[in-house]
Amino acid sequence: MDKIRILGGTPLKGVITIGGAKNAALTLMPACLLTDGTLSLSNLPHLVDITTMANLLAQHGVEMSLDGNSPEGGHTGRVLELTARDITNTTAPYDLVRRMRASVLVLGPLLARCGQARVSLPGGCAIGTRPVDLHLKALEQMGAKIELAEGYIDAKVPGGRLKGAHVIFPMVTVGGTENVLMAATLAEGETIISNAAQEPEITDLAQCLVAMGAKIEGIGTPTLRVTGVDRLHGARYSVVPDRIETGTYAVAAAITRGQVELVGTRRDLMTSVEKVLVEAGVEISDTERGMLVKADSAELVGVDIMTEPFPGFPTDMQAQLMALMATASGASMMTETIFENRFMHVPELNRMGARINVHGSSAIVRGVKQLSGAPVMATDLRASVSLVLAGLAAKGETIVNRVYHLDRGYERVEEKLAACGARIERIKDNDPAE
Ligand code: EPZ
Repeated sequence: MDKIRILGGTPLKGVITIGGAKNAALTLMPACLLTDGTLSLSNLPHLVDITTMANLLAQHGVEMSLDGNSPEGGHTGRVLELTARDITNTTAPYDLVRRMRASVLVLGPLLARCGQARVSLPGGCAIGTRPVDLHLKALEQMGAKIELAEGYIDAKVPGGRLKGAHVIFPMVTVGGTENVLMAATLAEGETIISNAAQEPEITDLAQCLVAMGAKIEGIGTPTLRVTGVDRLHGARYSVVPDRIETGTYAVAAAITRGQVELVGTRRDLMTSVEKVLVEAGVEISDTERGMLVKADSAELVGVDIMTEPFPGFPTDMQAQLMALMATASGASMMTETIFENRFMHVPELNRMGARINVHGSSAIVRGVKQLSGAPVMATDLRASVSLVLAGLAAKGETIVNRVYHLDRGYERVEEKLAACGARIERIKDNDPAE
């Protein structure tokens, strides 16, 4: 597996372009299953998870064409056209679902369009058990008959068409809201989703569905009202900028005490992250093309953080902030409320000289003057990128192993950072034994 080698200590200076949001793209792509028209998605990021979703959709019978690579050799502005004229297969097999949990997002659309679906159960993952019980309960409320057998969710809709229902989620679930929202667009009658997730990715999905002819009210609020229609049509839609990529590079600027302009993104997508960064001493301002993140003139201080559903502080930024707090002066308490096992970066950061203690769902971070480079490894995406960030600030060499995780969620991470002066390179490893 490839590795990333970093020689830390250089303040970043330059411009970084932010791509389309991975987690928005992963729900917009399966929305194509709801129509026989063509869904054309622009600003699609180039990531392993997007390829996995494309492979899954292809085996359901979706035809795809990709266009729009930028002349610089990157993939900004990529356009993917997806046409689910005939759905030839309603099974999402174990082999694809085990690689990416978001595969479960084909369940709602397949049930709504075909009245049946067989989707492998995603199982646990590195950050927590992550059940899908709330997705299934809601779809049952809408008339689906669901059985779990041989590791698969076997779902059928007697009569062929889902019925509107009042779904009240007992806890906020992003994927659950997405599955039910997509299913409800073609259901008979009205569906009300209470305690719906309000993440920008949900708003993006809802707006795309509206462009496809869906009737949705309450977009961006915790109550979504969907009036089912007989059919949806194709649409063109541009994926929202990735707020987690934005936040990650903002932290990269801050942790190296540098100055970076982030372009192609929006500040309003990361208000809670901005608030924490500003409290820590980072300066953030608007530019014509995006935003400027500046930390070259201030001493950063520890800030307490608690992860929460949007608009609260995102769990997907917790590891990155922890790396930053490890270099700030004073202490910081970081509490994780979304996933039960999302501190896997802690022992690795400690190997780099950080002083972090975990007590249940909270971590106390005591800032140190200087991190030191080390070989490190993490088993999920955001944990891995937090180690890259720590490596940028550390003295000496850091080797981040298992870059596979990074490639799932960050497009050309080493190129973007190197363009701002970071001494970072990818070491290709073709050893099949690893
Ligand atoms: C989405 O995961 C994101 N993934 C995650 O991004 C993100 O961390 C998470 O939302 C929270 O913001 C995608 O969008 C593809 P949830 P999702 O359902 O939908 C529990 C990243 O790094 N729950 O909101 O799976 C669940 O176990 C990632 O990009 C149930 O108990 O998250 C968790 O504790 C990782 N039963 C909590 O709810 C259910 O049926 C929130 O999960 C569903 C969820």
